[in-house]
Amino acid sequence: MANPLDDLLRGVNVLREQVRQSLDSEGNWLERLALRPPPPDSRSLEELWGELDALVGLESVKDQVRALVAFLQVQGERLERGLPEVATSQHLVFLGNPGTGKTTIARLLAHMYRSMGLLRKGHLVEVDRAGLVGEYVGMTALKTERVIRRALDGVLFIDEAYALARPGQRGVDFGQEAVETLLKRMEDHRHRLVVIVAGYPRLMHEFLDSNPGLRSRFARELIFPDYSTDELVAITELFAQQNAYRVTAAAAEELRRIFGRVERGEGFGNARYSRTIFEQALNAQALRLAATSEKALGHRNADELMSLTEADFAVAARTLGEREPRPFPRPRRWRRAS
Ligand SMILES: Nc1ncnc2c1ncn2[C@@H]1O[C@H](COP(=O)(O)OP(=O)(O)O)[C@@H](O)[C@H]1O
Ligand SMILES: [Mg+2]
Repeated sequence: MANPLDDLLRGVNVLREQVRQSLDSEGNWLERLALRPPPPDSRSLEELWGELDALVGLESVKDQVRALVAFLQVQGERLERGLPEVATSQHLVFLGNPGTGKTTIARLLAHMYRSMGLLRKGHLVEVDRAGLVGEYVGMTALKTERVIRRALDGVLFIDEAYALARPGQRGVDFGQEAVETLLKRMEDHRHRLVVIVAGYPRLMHEFLDSNPGLRSRFARELIFPDYSTDELVAITELFAQQNAYRVTAAAAEELRRIFGRVERGEGFGNARYSRTIFEQALNAQALRLAATSEKALGHRNADELMSLTEADFAVAARTLGEREPRPFPRPRRWRRAS
């Protein structure tokens, strides 16, 4: 007679094999996902110029980017001819309020550097104070080093960098440790790292003045002005176009009224506000179509599906509270006394 324990054992073995196989296939699947390299970015300088030009407004920023790229190109050619390199810093300061296009330009610039052969990868690593500063003694240097290693051959973009010049909680100034590590590594990796520090203009000047090493290394400043009402309308239209939507003429007028009314302070979200309004309008459009169209779902024509109307934006603005004071936190100390 067969031993019932044998049966049990056999059963367990079969189960174990099944579990192993399913884990294996899952493991492979995960591995394949993780190992698939991201598609290499091979946009040419020409294409990148096209993308830069397609951005609304930002004329002075575009001019400065053109000047910087031209300068770097000449330096590159000089080097090829055996002429000495001018000792200059490639690191940049981006001054501007939230939503003024700083990250967008940094990303484009990183790829321009790559397409010119100045950076091997041209990726952008974006961090803020929390991404660099640790909570214990000794942690900050490690954390900062790790971020810098990730950014090598690309651009390290430090958002709201002024926060590094302020003592953290408990009065311990780990921000200073991050800045010192950064300055040192910028020197060590002169040819493999471009650092961009960004933030509110006034606070950034305070930050740069907090350390003489910073002032000398971040010599070039790009100023990102707030967008005008017309530019915000154009940016919203661009979002629509990029997503195969269309802003009707009456809707553009409504947008002009909405942006004209909005209170502008240092914390105003600029193009981020355009994006929020646009996203809210998509919801409003969907509800409008669901409520008003007699046609069954799935039978609306493309024009209906694409059109964003005056009413959609009016609803969007109302949803956002219209007061739309400052959806983005701004540093306390600059808040106007009321
Ligand atoms: N001039 C512009 N033209 C078109 N889109 C823009 C422009 N500036 C910003 N945007 C868009 O607005 C959003 C916020 O811009 P971002 O670069 O993140 O601003 P910041 O980094 O200054 O906060 C992004 O989706 C970006 O693509
Ligand atoms: Mg940004």
